Amino acid sequence: MKTFYIETFGCQMNAHDSEKVIGTLLSQGYQKVETPEEAELVFYNTCSIRDKAEQKVFHRLQQFKKEHGKGKTFAVLGCVAQQEGERIFEKAPHVSLVCGSASYNKLPEMLVQLESGNRRVTGLSLDTEDTFETPMTRRDNPHRAYITIIEGCDKSCAYCVVPFTRGPERSRTSASVMSETLELARAGYSEIQLLGQNVNSYRDPSPAGWDFATLLDNVGRVQGIRRVRFTTSHPRDFRKSIIDAIDGNTALCNHVHLPVQSGSSRILAAMQRLYTRDEYMERIRWMKASPRAIAITSDIIVGFPGETEEDFEATLGLLDEVEYDSIFSFKYSRRPNTSALALDDQIAEEEKVRRLTIVQERQRGIQIRRNAAYLGSVEECMVEGFNKATSQWIGRTSQNKTLNFLRPGRDEDLTGHYLEVRVTRAGPNSLVGEAVN
Ligand code: 5AD
Ligand code: SF4
Repeated sequence: MKTFYIETFGCQMNAHDSEKVIGTLLSQGYQKVETPEEAELVFYNTCSIRDKAEQKVFHRLQQFKKEHGKGKTFAVLGCVAQQEGERIFEKAPHVSLVCGSASYNKLPEMLVQLESGNRRVTGLSLDTEDTFETPMTRRDNPHRAYITIIEGCDKSCAYCVVPFTRGPERSRTSASVMSETLELARAGYSEIQLLGQNVNSYRDPSPAGWDFATLLDNVGRVQGIRRVRFTTSHPRDFRKSIIDAIDGNTALCNHVHLPVQSGSSRILAAMQRLYTRDEYMERIRWMKASPRAIAITSDIIVGFPGETEEDFEATLGLLDEVEYDSIFSFKYSRRPNTSALALDDQIAEEEKVRRLTIVQERQRGIQIRRNAAYLGSVEECMVEGFNKATSQWIGRTSQNKTLNFLRPGRDEDLTGHYLEVRVTRAGPNSLVGEAVN
């Protein structure tokens, strides 16, 4: 039996793609091993969102070339595979398979080609209407399951490679999403995360014609499903009906990740984000008006070409105005194929570093204040595991906050259980508490 190892970089879409790829490989008779040294086939499922992410896979391939790469077959999957295509064979001649996510349906055939000695196997077509579904998906976590509802992206944000690496938008039918949810609920999963590059532009291709809010609500009404999350959303397609669904269905987590990227309407236009700051803030007001205390998180890019000090101040002002529960913040990174590549007025690296540091300090203060407001409150946590170093259980609230807690005198495994926890301490990035009996 052939052995394989897989390492995954990047987002949850990639993590879930790897679960499906693993299922496919197992069903083809391959055996999974935990280190690349033991494996005959080594897969890297890659990310190219920023230059640093892309470089990781080339470092890995380089390491192996020098050390123990002999006799192994290397495969590059995912976003770098799609972006670099056959150039990977030149950069790393020991790679034999290069395959983007839109071609994973063809993996079984590609494996046959590899087995028959073909050393240049590719799956790079983006011309597809299919999504990658497989009944063999090997999920990593027994309690929380990812479900892809839409693949690809039809937006053209000036900085972003995703439309080039994941192809055009394709939605799954609501019937297939619902039957997967039912199956997962029956198998004991209680939390579902709906995934897509742009989940809220979901459009049921079947005659039922559900929009995203309808799908979300129905997934949350499946018996046994206690929590539903979704990521990631684009403000342009974010309708009030999503908040209405959250208001009316407690199985839908009170957390929305709504990437803003910049607080300056001028930069948003240059980024081709298709909304202004005011339009974005309207969506924030819908969330703040909800009776459910919806946690709001975001992504920020600093140093987009042409970003002036005034634009940057507008982003800081937006952080203060929204008071996000947390953010991911990044320095703008120039990406191949994207339209921003051609823009003049690139911001110097030191200046990007300075702005990023300021954004992160500002946000840290906001999080310290926001989290302190939870002191004394009782939150329901889903237990994710146990931290031996601190003797604390690791919990997650519906708002997606980490709440680590003590539960003295019990040693059964609580992973996957839901417990009420009283918050006793608050830091910028997590809460600490004690289980309530
Ligand atoms: N440079 C920096 N950050 C980027 N992102 C996407 N493309 C780039 C880029 N070229 C960020 C955005 C997006 C998140 C997933 O990554 O903030 O929301
Ligand atoms: Fe990285 Fe984007 Fe590809 Fe996800 S979709 S792996 S974040 S480049």
